[in-house]
Amino acid sequence: MDDKLIKSAHSAVLKGSDSLEGICTRIEGYDFNQGVNYSRLLKSMLSSGFQASNFGEAIEIVNEMLNWRLSDEPIAEDSSEEEKDPTYRESVRSKVFLGFTSNLISSGVRDTVRYLTEHHMVDVIVTTTGGIEEDLIKCLAPTYKGDFSLPGAQLRSRGLNRIGNLLVPNDNYCKFEDWIVPILDQMLKEQLEENVLWTPSKLIARLGREINNGSSYLYWAYKNNIPVFCPGLTDGSLGDMLYFHSFRSPGLIIDVVQDIRAMNGEAVGASPRKTGMIILGGGLAKHHICNANMMRNGADYAVYINTAQEYDGSDSGARPDEAVSWGKIRGSAKTVKVHCDATIAFPLLVAETFASKSKNLA
Ligand SMILES: NC(=O)c1ccc[n+]([C@@H]2O[C@H](COP(=O)([O-])OP(=O)(O)OC[C@H]3O[C@@H](n4cnc5c(N)ncnc54)[C@H](O)[C@@H]3O)[C@@H](O)[C@H]2O)c1
Repeated sequence: MDDKLIKSAHSAVLKGSDSLEGICTRIEGYDFNQGVNYSRLLKSMLSSGFQASNFGEAIEIVNEMLNWRLSDEPIAEDSSEEEKDPTYRESVRSKVFLGFTSNLISSGVRDTVRYLTEHHMVDVIVTTTGGIEEDLIKCLAPTYKGDFSLPGAQLRSRGLNRIGNLLVPNDNYCKFEDWIVPILDQMLKEQLEENVLWTPSKLIARLGREINNGSSYLYWAYKNNIPVFCPGLTDGSLGDMLYFHSFRSPGLIIDVVQDIRAMNGEAVGASPRKTGMIILGGGLAKHHICNANMMRNGADYAVYINTAQEYDGSDSGARPDEAVSWGKIRGSAKTVKVHCDATIAFPLLVAETFASKSKNLA
C-alpha cells in the first residue's frame, strides 16, 4: 500500500471538524456522587440526550411561559394607556391552554390536573369525554390497578372494564347514572322554564359544581372559573347517559356552536397576553387547542408530550413544526415534543415548573 493512499484514508477517517464548544450543550448525565437530589436529576435531563433532553427543554419552555410578563416586551406604538402602565404590564401573564386525552384522567395524572386547577395555574382546558366522566366517577367509586394482559372475556363475565392496566368496575358506571340523571332532569327543566342554552362547557361546569368534591379537577375548574371544553361530548359514558335520557325525558339540547365561539374567543381575546399550549396525548384535545390558537396567528409556546408518530400523517403524531405551517404555532415560538408516556413525564414536568414555583404550598 503506498503512502499516498494511506494518507488519503487517514484524512478521510480523521477529517477535521468545526468546534461546537460554546455553541452546543455538552452531553453529560447526573452524577449520583452528588447524592439523590430529584430536582437536580430532572434538571440534568437537558444535557442527557434523546427524549431526556426534550423533557429538559419542556421544563425550560414551561418555566419561560410561566415567567413571561408583558413588562418583558417593548411597549408597542398602538398600546392603550392601560397597556403602557408598568403595574398593569407586570400583572399580565401568559394564558395557558392545557389539553389531555381521557385515559390520563383514568390514570393518576388526574391528581396532577386537579392540583393545577385547584391553584388556578392553567386558564383553559380541553379534553375528551372520558376526561370528564372519569373525574366525576372517581368521586363515586375508585379505579383499580390491574394488568395489560388480563383477558377481556373473563373481565366481561365479572363486570370489569379495562383501560390499559387499569380496571373500572361496571358498577361505577351504574353509580354514575344514578348521580347524573337527576342533574340532567334539572338541566332540561331549566332549559324549558328559564331558556337556559346548554353547551358542553356549561354542562361540564354544572357537573363540577354538583360533584362538590375537592378531589375532582372539574370541581376546582368550576370554582376557579376555568372553562373546560369537550366538543365531542357524546363519545363516552356521558353520551350513553344522554342517549338513555333522551328516551326517558326527551328535549335536552347541547349547543356546540356556542362553545366553538367561546373556545376560539379564549385565543382571539388573549392579547396582550402570550399563549402557551401544554398538550398531553393527541386526538381531539390536541387539535382543538391548536386550531383555536390559529385564530390569533399561533401560540407563543407549545409543549407536546405524546407517543404518536408522524409517519402516518396523523395530527396526533405531528410535531409542532407542522402546526407552524398552519399558523397554529408562531414561527418564533418556543416548542418541543417529548416522545413519552405522559403518566411519567407530566407529573415530573409539573414538579419542576408549576409546583416548584409554589413551594410555599407544601
Ligand atoms: N378512559 C378513556 O380513555 C376513555 C373513556 C371513555 C371514553 N373514551 C373516549 O375514547 C375516545 C378516544 O380517546 P382520546 O381522544 O382521549 O384519546 P386516545 O386514547 O385515542 O389517544 C390519542 C393519542 O394520544 C396519545 N396518547 C394517549 N395516551 C397517551 C399517554 N399516556 N402518553 C402519551 N401519549 C398518549 C397516543 O398517541 C394516542 O394515539 C374519546 O372520544 C374519549 O372520550 C375514552
